[in-house]
Amino acid sequence: GDGGHVEDIDFSFEGPFGTYDAAQLQRGFQVYYEVCSACHGLKFVSFRSLGEESGPGYPEVQQKAIAASYDVADEEGDPGDTRPGKPSDNFPANDTVGAPDLSLMAKARAGFHGPAGLGINQLLKGGGGPEYIHAILTGYTGEEKEEAGAILYENHAFPGGYLQMTPPLSAGLVEYQDGTEASVEQMSQDVAAFLMWTAEPKMTERKQAGFRNIGFLILLLVLFYFTNKKIWAPVK
Ligand code: HEM
Repeated sequence: GDGGHVEDIDFSFEGPFGTYDAAQLQRGFQVYYEVCSACHGLKFVSFRSLGEESGPGYPEVQQKAIAASYDVADEEGDPGDTRPGKPSDNFPANDTVGAPDLSLMAKARAGFHGPAGLGINQLLKGGGGPEYIHAILTGYTGEEKEEAGAILYENHAFPGGYLQMTPPLSAGLVEYQDGTEASVEQMSQDVAAFLMWTAEPKMTERKQAGFRNIGFLILLLVLFYFTNKKIWAPVK
């Protein structure tokens, strides 16, 4: 295959009123934590941010427990020393197999293009970063090939059609704490949503600020209209 096939998904955070679904972000975090973090870092994300109300909303005890389960660089010790993480630390980077950091991946990749370079699809469906991540995770064909000593896995979504990541998900790989059935489709959507949140944690606040600003501009418009009338009244 030659890759590039990305399917649109109706995520809860799409559209002007869309918000993150905290339960989905928690499931997505669980997938990242138990599966993806073996190879991928999340170095721009702090443990503390997992508590954000418009995000996963983990209570402080869980932020602390998650942080403490990671070893982070100990800047007060000798070079190379590590200590258990604190909420104020970021997730560690992970360079063990050369997998890219996932903090900003949902914004670094586009799912939709065209037609004819116009970007109409992006305008209508959104940038498609989370859709791209979902498509990669569900796009394996089961075929593989060896090239220059590396094993490449065929994938409908990855540009070029082959990538070096082994298919990371299989049905039931995680046991969701909220009881949701962990199908490959479900886990892929959940971790894609979680990675959209890591890439744009302030999305809800940004949308709310947008509505406040538009409301203020409408108010100004009304005031200017009457001011203008009053100023010119003697002339007319
Ligand atoms: C690449 C996501 C698990 C190793 C990628 C890419 C994404 C991704 C989005 C980037 C594709 C691109 O560059 O456009 C995930 C997610 C995972 C996961 C969400 C968990 C569900 C893993 C695991 C490993 C791994 C467990 C190691 C065993 C790699 C490698 C690449 C990669 C080596 C680079 C592939 C290439 O450029 O050919 N992953 N990954 N990933 N991942 Fe993962």
